[in-house]
Amino acid sequence: MRAVDIIIKKRDRQELSREEIDFFIEGYTRGEIPDYQAAAWVMAILLNGMNNRETTDLTLAMARSGEILDLSGVVPIAVDKHSTGGVGDKTTLVVEPIVSACGLAVGKMSGHGLGFSGGTLDKMESIPGFRTNLSKAEFIEQLRSIGIVLTGQSADLAPADGKLYALRDVTGTVQSTPLIASSVMSKKIAAGAQAILLDVKVGLGAFMQNLAEARTLAKLMVDIAHLAGRKAIALLSDMNQPLGQAVGNALELKEAIATLQGQGPQDFRQHSLHVAALMLVLGGVVEDEEKGQELAQKMLDDGLGWKKFRTMVIAQSGDVSYIDHPEKLPKAALVETVVSPSSGWLAGIHAREVGETAVFLGAGRANKGDPIDYSVGIEILHKVGERVEKGQPLFTIHANDRLSLDACRDRLFQAFTWSTQPTPALPLFYGVVK
Ligand code: URA
Repeated sequence: MRAVDIIIKKRDRQELSREEIDFFIEGYTRGEIPDYQAAAWVMAILLNGMNNRETTDLTLAMARSGEILDLSGVVPIAVDKHSTGGVGDKTTLVVEPIVSACGLAVGKMSGHGLGFSGGTLDKMESIPGFRTNLSKAEFIEQLRSIGIVLTGQSADLAPADGKLYALRDVTGTVQSTPLIASSVMSKKIAAGAQAILLDVKVGLGAFMQNLAEARTLAKLMVDIAHLAGRKAIALLSDMNQPLGQAVGNALELKEAIATLQGQGPQDFRQHSLHVAALMLVLGGVVEDEEKGQELAQKMLDDGLGWKKFRTMVIAQSGDVSYIDHPEKLPKAALVETVVSPSSGWLAGIHAREVGETAVFLGAGRANKGDPIDYSVGIEILHKVGERVEKGQPLFTIHANDRLSLDACRDRLFQAFTWSTQPTPALPLFYGVVK
């Protein structure tokens, strides 16, 4: 077999066999197929698509490119969650401890942010000392002993995805349903969880911009999980406006801590309870979502979710004084609250623009490996559908220099759209795919 023939076949819209997909992924992982051929191949996939059988074969080939963890002998059932990425999405920080406090083991390998979309690891790394590079043995031992782990993806899990994702990021080939599905699911299958909750974001601040595309992606990922012998549910959730108020690493960590302590913005709290409830259903702790919501709420009310979060931070060597006293977390030198220039109803808050403005302030990376500033970010103080009066606080900017703050203020004004008529609030969810 030759890589070039497989590229040509996909370029000519033909279906690839399992052997051809295996050949390409194995060759690319071993470094025998160069980046330029892989780039041409993923572009052909982006343009011409893959059917479900090809996507499943691609996912399994990527999962098999490294080690596949088997957690079945470690805990009775391990659950995991994955968000397809969004702005202000700190859900894992709240949901993992709630679900773990209900007695289900949650082992999660997360990523750093890239582009406008934030990353869970960056938020957790605002806690001095917190380790996100646990070895496989440490991951398993912590899952067994305290039932909660939140670490980075180890290099030996789905290495083909690591290489392909970096390549896609710089070749304009991220936005492809088969490529996203295989990237997400290869990692999830390799990380060993038996039950997986997929939070598929849809809207202006998500990879999937419309509901039909998001539903197709969700169904494809759930089907792949089933074929790989895992349980899975996908939730379709809104990402037109940022989730919660905070966008930026230490700010989002603070918001997650407040939520675990029974405060926090209402939309974020509701979103977290819904995700937690579905994970509890998947893990067999409760029969239905309603009971799951009640139990998740109880974990918040009783402070058991917060206690679990602390336990995890301590287990991963984080300095717990920073989460007990969040005012110790990195703070920006300049904090400015900007007031509304006019009165009206908020008709839109462009999530992607807000995410990109946060990256501009230093909260994210332009390129993989760039340093980030944990202290900077934005707080959006209203939601779409709310009435805001002239002079009322609209957003707060946390910046470390005056020039960025001024530029950011102008950019954020552009992210808001207004209506003179009452406008409906955005839904938090668009449904569940099983
Ligand atoms: N998240 C992933 O892990 N992979 C993608 O391709 C897109 C989002």
